[in-house]
Amino acid sequence: VAREPLKVMISGAPASGKGTQCELIVQKFGLVHVSTGDLLRAEVSSGTEIGNKTKEFMNAGQLVPDEIVTAMVTSRLSRQDAKEKGWLLDGYPRTSSQAESLERLNIRPYIYIVLEVPDEILIDRCVGRRLDPVTGKIYHIKNFPPETEEIKARLITRPDDTEEKVKFRLKTYKQNAEAISSTYMDIMKKLDGNRQKDIVFEEVSSLLVQTEESKVEMAKLE
Ligand code: AP5
Repeated sequence: VAREPLKVMISGAPASGKGTQCELIVQKFGLVHVSTGDLLRAEVSSGTEIGNKTKEFMNAGQLVPDEIVTAMVTSRLSRQDAKEKGWLLDGYPRTSSQAESLERLNIRPYIYIVLEVPDEILIDRCVGRRLDPVTGKIYHIKNFPPETEEIKARLITRPDDTEEKVKFRLKTYKQNAEAISSTYMDIMKKLDGNRQKDIVFEEVSSLLVQTEESKVEMAKLE
């Protein structure tokens, strides 16, 4: 039976662990990780036209205008590697109009994973987060400290990770969450993201395996 690659969407509040789980998903399932936050941060650090247009929104913790992000996502998903290996969309859609854009283009995941974490924990996770600009790996000063002094010395803090900006980002997330989940209600899986990352990943992984298996079954019936 021909296997169509997996298409996965992962959602959740700021610092719910999307990026962390995506690192693990990519390692095991080989999907192409499309993170709008990472793509935008790369544009900002290379000083491109998109980067210059979006920098202020991002640094303030505000959403970047829909049309910029939508163009970026659709062009990335249409590349050959995403078609062949499957994709893992992280941080998009974030508004109902972004979800509608995907529906219009007939771009639909097989599964929509939502990571749930209490507010007070999210704030602590953001404030303690550090990124390695060389490997792109995500650390936390308490939860996941860097492995070596060399890595520690080069870690950076995101400008939108202050307590005040995190609260604003969280408010924006909550305002939009319901409208987006209503689009994916039939394929939505809510997970408790307030557990150790490996435990969360075990559940994510078994959901993805199940999704793959049910796709094969469907293909046999067709
Ligand atoms: P984006 O980068 O997507 O930010 P976000 O949604 O706020 O999510 P985060 O990256 O903050 O968190 P995460 O869930 O990936 O958590 P992580 O794994 O790092 O977007 C940034 C900005 O870009 C937006 O504000 C906006 O301006 C713009 N943008 C992006 N997409 C857009 C769109 N579609 N439309 C418009 N604008 C858009 O984990 C967080 C911390 O917790 C880390 O330190 C980690 O080590 C730790 N941690 C993770 N898991 C665990 C665990 N299980 N236990 C303990 N600690 C953990």
